[in-house]
Amino acid sequence: MQSFELNRNMAQLAILQRIELCGPSLKKIRKFFGRYLFSTLFSKYFINPQKISKNYHNLMENEFLLIEKFIKGNDKILSIGSGIGGLEILINRKFNNHISFIEKNYISKKIKYGWDKNNEEGYNSLNLLEEFLLNNGIKKEKFEILDYDRDVLPETKFDVIISLYSLDYHYEFNIYKDYLERVMKPETVLIFDTVRSDYFFDVFKKVDVIKQDINTVHKSKRIACRNL
Ligand SMILES: C[S@@+](CC[C@H](N)C(=O)[O-])C[C@H]1O[C@@H](n2cnc3c(N)ncnc32)[C@H](O)[C@@H]1O
Repeated sequence: MQSFELNRNMAQLAILQRIELCGPSLKKIRKFFGRYLFSTLFSKYFINPQKISKNYHNLMENEFLLIEKFIKGNDKILSIGSGIGGLEILINRKFNNHISFIEKNYISKKIKYGWDKNNEEGYNSLNLLEEFLLNNGIKKEKFEILDYDRDVLPETKFDVIISLYSLDYHYEFNIYKDYLERVMKPETVLIFDTVRSDYFFDVFKKVDVIKQDINTVHKSKRIACRNL
């Protein structure tokens, strides 16, 4: 099984971003001790970073296999809410594209895994994201990282925009709508997860459902959309 270069702090972020990386005992600890102690303490010290690294690699490899057909070598890619960036590393390894990241530079003290009406939750550190990308072989000139709350977002046309379990899964699509209208060309593909895929059939001219999570509480669909 392959793995990423992932230290304990990065492994903690991966766990906070992808709860399925928690084993059953960590899930029980979360239930018993509550979200604060889980987010700040147990997710960091009660984990095996090597094991998380392998499982995270496996998870991202599966995500990559699902979306790789939408990507070509010269495409300019935007990733909204990438988390620690494992998927983007796999994309860069295969296609060597330039990738722009928009993320939050903030880790909530009591992470709630649900709909975040005011988009106040964050589960990332932009320093750790950069370190993780560099440690895993992405060259500095091949990426840029933007802080959603502080930076001016790049006003350039992207070919592929990816937002797994972030845009419209945790927070309202509309907070990005105007921005996406400016940076999408008619042929740009935007891939994201949502529990209300039907709504987007009226927002985009073309929508394809590429994955369905029917066994999870949220029952979301992953959609690939064009022509906003
Ligand atoms: C559940 S995680 C998913 C991470 C990653 N896409 C994955 O599939 O593993 C959601 C991510 O969205 C980020 N996020 C929250 N609000 C955001 C915003 N307004 N813009 C960009 N990212 C945001 C969080 O910091 C977090 O890293």
